[in-house]
Parts: sequence; structure tokens; C-alpha cells
Amino acid sequence: MTKMRAIVQDRYGTPEEVLQLREVEIPTPAPDEVLVRVRAASVNPDVWHAISGYPRLMRLMGAGLVRPKQPIPGLDMAGELAAVGRDVVDFRPGDAVFGETHDRIQWVSGGAYAEYVSVPAHVLSLKPENMTFEQAATVPTSGTIALINLRKFIGPEPGQRIVINGAAGGVGSIAIQMAKAKGAFVVAVDHTTQLDYMQSLGADKVVDYTREDITRLEQDVDLIVDVASTLALSACKRILKPDGLMVVIGHDHYGAKGRRTLGGIPSFLFLMIRARFDRHLPWPSFETMEKRDAMDILSRMLGTGELTPKVARTFPLSEVPAAIRCLQKGQLCGRLVIVP
Ligand SMILES: NC(=O)c1ccc[n+]([C@@H]2O[C@H](COP(=O)([O-])OP(=O)(O)OC[C@H]3O[C@@H](n4cnc5c(N)ncnc54)[C@H](OP(=O)(O)O)[C@@H]3O)[C@@H](O)[C@H]2O)c1
Repeated sequence: MTKMRAIVQDRYGTPEEVLQLREVEIPTPAPDEVLVRVRAASVNPDVWHAISGYPRLMRLMGAGLVRPKQPIPGLDMAGELAAVGRDVVDFRPGDAVFGETHDRIQWVSGGAYAEYVSVPAHVLSLKPENMTFEQAATVPTSGTIALINLRKFIGPEPGQRIVINGAAGGVGSIAIQMAKAKGAFVVAVDHTTQLDYMQSLGADKVVDYTREDITRLEQDVDLIVDVASTLALSACKRILKPDGLMVVIGHDHYGAKGRRTLGGIPSFLFLMIRARFDRHLPWPSFETMEKRDAMDILSRMLGTGELTPKVARTFPLSEVPAAIRCLQKGQLCGRLVIVP
């Protein structure tokens, strides 16, 4: 068998316009790669960026100037190893693994919306046995973003008061569980339809952003994690402790903010400059994490039950455009997953 089914795009555009289900060659893994038979792949906001080509700056950052360099979208996935390259020593055929499919930024397509994908072995971890492929596939991108942005600020001392804005989404739902595992008091903010879900993840208090303004409700907050990127720092200062911090994750709401060329990057640069003079913003750092290190931490948290991902709905490969439409509509309790 040399052919597989995959979602392919030859240009940037809306999912309905540019995504096609086609038969293509099964990739051949390089010596340091493994061939994964994809059992599940997640649908997250970065996939929308990679398909639409917005913000345009991402095209210069390795995604592909005129069309995606990798024509098959999808980045985080879980599956079984169909083959291993000759230099791979830490995996064997048949192993169940999960991870992102490359070690570049999340705006670069990764080939996961296919029956098979070739992946550098050093970005993968073994899938914990207590997780389904669908659950495991929801974790790599959201979990890595949550770890990179939060590990320095949550704990180790218990009892921190942490507000998570956009807490029912992919990153927020993991952030709630990470904060609870460190003994924090978690105030989770999201839509009316997601309040019960956030409580089920362990949130101590839930707030409906359509009815209440978190910056007028809380006080003595140690940390605000703004995943939805809808809060103003000036308003957040009202509820932060004198040494409290605000971390902004950066959500572009599928181009709704209109920043088609540079996206949220100017706002981030502005925050980084401001952080030199504002004690409520973390000191700017370009520190990141090796993907394998992040995956190993996430794998352990999944294995011990500290982290339990929820799948909202699954879609077959032929329905990727419908899945992305569903993601954009929002109000989900869990991640959407493609099952090839
Ligand atoms: N900083 C980094 O290191 C980094 C790296 C890569 C990517 N990113 C970005 O990080 C983001 C990850 O987000 P995600 O995967 O968690 O997104 P998500 O799953 O879409 O979650 C966002 C949540 O925010 C909620 N929300 C919308 N408007 C809100 C408001 N006004 N107030 C409070 N909550 C609101 C949404 O609710 P509804 O469902 O009602 O809309 C949703 O539950 C992506 O945009 C990605 O591009 C960051």
C-alpha cells in the first residue's frame, strides 16, 4: 500500500474553499523520523491560522510565502508507529505515541489530517495507556502553550488566587487543571454554556463573561491568565495584588480583530516593552521548552490523572471544514477531534 487519504490545500483561504480530500503518497520517514498511523488529530485555533494564512506575517515565519509548504494541515495528533527510521532508538513499531508533528511554531502546518504522517522522533512521547487516542490528541499544542506560559508563575506555594479568562478552551481547560494540581484557588471565566464544564474541571468559582466583568468582581488576585486576550491591563490592575501578574496568551478570534498582516504580534511587542516598567507584567523572556520535555511532563500528568482532557466531538477526515466551522462558532466543552 503506497497511497493514503489526506486533507490537502494548494493555497491559503477559508477551509471550505481550499481543503480537499485526496489520495496522496504515504510519506517515507527520514532516518530520525517515525511514520505514525494517525488515529486522532485535534482541531485548534492554530490550525485555522495555518489554513487561512493569517496573519500574513506567519507566511514569512516558515509556513510558506504563497501556499503552505506542507500542503496537509493538522498539527497535534496521536497514533501508532507503522515504521521507525534507522536512527530512531527510543521507539518501536506498534508503539502508541502523541505529540505535535514538527518542532517549529504552531502556525506551520504539520500534515496530521491524514492517515499517516512522518514525524521527527524527538518531538513525540508515549501515549499514556489510560488515555484514548482522541483524548491524547487534544493535548500537545494546548498543553505546550499552557506549560510554556504558566509553569513559572503557578505555585509552588498553594493558595494562590488565579483568574483564567477563556478557561473553557483548549489552553484554559489545561490551565485550570495545572493550577488545581498546585493547590491554587481557580476563578474560571468563560461563556454561559461552559460554566458547568469548568466546574467539572475543578474550578472553584466560575464567571460568565457575557453577564459579569471579572475586573469588577475579584480582588487580591495573584495571577491573571488571559487566554481569550480580551482584558485590559489597566482594568486588571484593580483586582491584582501589588505583586500580582498578568500573562496574556494571545487569541486572534479567527481574524475578528481584523489584524490580517501582523496579527497580535505588535500587541505582544508592546507588552514586552511595557513589562520593563510595569511590575504586573512578567519580565520579557524568549525562553521556551523542548517539545519532548513538554510532552514528557504532559504525559506524566495524563498518566497520574492530574490532567483529564475532554473530547467535545469527533469528525471524519472528510468533514474537516465543518469541524473548523464548529471551532469558530465556539462555546465548546472540550476539543474537536478528527478521526481519519
Ligand atoms: N502565547 C503562546 O505561547 C501561544 C503559542 C501558540 C499559540 N497561541 C495562541 O493561543 C491561543 C490558544 O487558545 P485556545 O486553544 O485555548 O483557544 P480556544 O480553545 O478557542 O479557547 C478560547 C476560549 O476563550 C473564550 N472566550 C471568547 N471570548 C471571550 C471573552 N470575551 N471573555 C472570556 N472568554 C472568552 C472562548 O469562548 P467561546 O467558546 O464562547 O468563544 C473559548 O472558550 C490561540 O489563539 C493560539 O493561536 C499562543
